[in-house]
Amino acid sequence: MILQRLKEETRVQHEEVEAAVDVMNQMFDLADYKRLLEKFWSFYAQYEPKLPLDELRNSDFDYSNRVKLPLLEADAKVLGLERSSNEIELPDLSSPAKALGSLYVIEGSTLGGQVISRHLKQHLGLTAENGGAFYAGYGQETGSMWKAFGESLTKFAGAGNADDEIVDAAKETFACITKWVGRKTNTAAISS
Ligand code: HEM
Repeated sequence: MILQRLKEETRVQHEEVEAAVDVMNQMFDLADYKRLLEKFWSFYAQYEPKLPLDELRNSDFDYSNRVKLPLLEADAKVLGLERSSNEIELPDLSSPAKALGSLYVIEGSTLGGQVISRHLKQHLGLTAENGGAFYAGYGQETGSMWKAFGESLTKFAGAGNADDEIVDAAKETFACITKWVGRKTNTAAISS
């Protein structure tokens, strides 16, 4: 129920973020890829430390085996990326309901990540070992990781009355990511 609501109520926002990312474009080259990854690296470097991991664990959801920052750091090292030090507008993650709603977007993006990963391998020769680790993500485990997340979220939502809070957090997360990824310039940067 909650998953269906999230999918329907964020459908347009998914289209918007897809357009902002624009990675499936035939003209998308390695320089574009590096710029995009710098965006995501900068985002996750500020986002993941703000997740209330202990509260999530108390709500029966463990994010610790899902962290994306190490993958981005590995790619950054291989590709020599620079991370933006600009303060990024982040969604409110101050309750388990908000954090889980936000993580719907983060975990859901691993599904599209598989499509993107295949495209990057085909067009730019990128694999998990040479700069494509973030998009390779959970690899063959992607389906089962998504299913497990969906079960945790459904259980959490079923036990409470926080569906609106969950959906609002997902919308806010899509909005923050689209705004940040779509923004053209980065000033001050931190080297990898
Ligand atoms: C060009 C970039 C992208 C492509 C091609 C893409 C494609 C896809 C595909 C094929 C799915 C699976 C649909 C299904 O199995 O039902 C999916 C799901 C999803 N993607 Fe994306 N995606 C992209 C970018 C993103 C980004 C950047 C985010 C968020 C940061 C995102 C969030 C989601 C979410 C939350 C879902 C789960 C939808 C659901 O079933 O409820 N996607 N995407």
